[in-house]
Amino acid sequence: MSTQERIEKMLKKAEVIIAAGGEKRIAKQHEQGKMTARERIAALLDEGSFVELDRFVKHRCYNFGQDKKDCPGEGVTTGYGTVDGRLVYVFAQDFTVEGGSLGEMHANKIVKVQRLALKMGAPCIGMNDSGGARIQEATDALGGYGKIFFENTGASGVIPQISAIMGPSAGGAVYSPALTDFIYMVKNTSQMFITGPEVVKTVTGEVVTKEALGGAMTHNSKSGVAHFAAENDEDCIQQIRYLLSFLPSNNMEPAPVVETGDDPMRTDESLNTLLPDNSNAPYDMYDVIKSIVDNGEFYESQKFYAQNIITCFARMDGSTVGIIANQPKVMAGCLDINASDKAARFIRFCDAFNIPLLNLVDVPGFLPGTYQEYGGIIRHGAKMLYAYSEATVPKVTLVTRKAYGGSYLAMCSQELGADQVIAWPTAEIAVMGPAGAANIIFKKDPDKDARTQEYIDNFASPYYAAQHQMVDLIIEPKNSRPAVCNALAMLESKREVRPAKRHGNIPL
Ligand code: HXC
Repeated sequence: MSTQERIEKMLKKAEVIIAAGGEKRIAKQHEQGKMTARERIAALLDEGSFVELDRFVKHRCYNFGQDKKDCPGEGVTTGYGTVDGRLVYVFAQDFTVEGGSLGEMHANKIVKVQRLALKMGAPCIGMNDSGGARIQEATDALGGYGKIFFENTGASGVIPQISAIMGPSAGGAVYSPALTDFIYMVKNTSQMFITGPEVVKTVTGEVVTKEALGGAMTHNSKSGVAHFAAENDEDCIQQIRYLLSFLPSNNMEPAPVVETGDDPMRTDESLNTLLPDNSNAPYDMYDVIKSIVDNGEFYESQKFYAQNIITCFARMDGSTVGIIANQPKVMAGCLDINASDKAARFIRFCDAFNIPLLNLVDVPGFLPGTYQEYGGIIRHGAKMLYAYSEATVPKVTLVTRKAYGGSYLAMCSQELGADQVIAWPTAEIAVMGPAGAANIIFKKDPDKDARTQEYIDNFASPYYAAQHQMVDLIIEPKNSRPAVCNALAMLESKREVRPAKRHGNIPL
């Protein structure tokens, strides 16, 4: 065979693989509003940057006549490229080939990019669209998942791992995304569940639609499994690119610094009048966030879940920060099981990837009651205490109003390692709220009301804490941005070394 013939043979083979499941299946994919695997990769990466690996990989399964079947690309396209000029690794399951089902070699293709991403210190992005384990490949498929989970875990905390669910993700297949840092789900076209509606009906008698059981909004608002919801594939991919702009490529690098053009010393008079005079009346913590971050821009993780706490990325003087903020507008901003889980995971992500933490505190307490106690609020709330104590990145806490008891510690008080605690004059830093305190210590006092007022005057303020060095600065609210930017600039060279251990034992 001449060289030219060999080249033509290779190109022909490649053509078959690129054609994937064929026109009909591609048309079906498009009809459902979904892109193909290759279209998704092209949209994610900088133009022309994709280098495909393992294009010619082929399964070695003889069961059920599989040896006579061609599965172009083994149902997954893998490789590397760049996003905004930075190296990333990617895999996209191809539903047009055997329903994107995962066999041994499909898994091996994914594992190869996972290992490369870890070795090179670059993010790994998986776009999932699959019918699950390729049934014909039996335990070889099962083992494939096992290998992927193992790599997911090994890479956790070393490189950012991002999963986009862009079609079905059922059975054990859901656990690879669950082991990654962030899950995106596309509305209406993606579902995640352990078992689909048919099995649910058989086992429990419950009748539920695919979307209600495991659709994008179910997992964004009810279960907290997903972090971001997208309108369609294009939106999902653009959001992933946006998220990457906030993140370092690995745990040894700082996050990229961006010229935002926003003066770090900018003040905002509106913050001086934001808080209502009645300290039990709500206000919107988003107003504080928008006021202090660069250009009012932030990107929220788990926006629809546990809305009593806000977790988002933003920039302060061009550098990424992770913000954890109580939201007085929802459940008075108290901490419950879901808020604790949401915040603790976000804190740990930021700490793993050198992203300073900014904690905006207005927290009246942990949510009381049997539902919370039976659900283990003690165990879940402890995750926040653990995550903040463990974090060695710069930690800045800004107390706007309530900071009561254990819930204040759980929002990173000085004792939990906050490097700077900044308070507004409206801050109420106390061991518990005035009403609760009065009920205990003035229960039998005939002058209960007067004594309660005395408690409020003396303890529902930042001054007792400031007198005891638990607050570094008390500022006019309008100066919040300069105060936080100064603190973060001062903390840039922070170094904190902890004793070596195998790993801690976070309450799970
Ligand atoms: C092999 C599969 C497959 C699978 C789909 N296909 N899933 N082949 N193994 N798991 C094939 C179909 O036979 C079909 O082939 C093509 O992919 C497209 O599938 P359709 O059913 O025609 O598509 P659609 O109607 O859109 O339905 C999609 C679907 C359905 C809802 C995902 O295919 C489905 O329910 N699949 C099985 C899902 C499942 O139970 N998986 C669990 C496997 S066990 P042709 O040739 O007709 O185009 C598992 C355990 C993992 O995952 C454990 C890990 C720890």
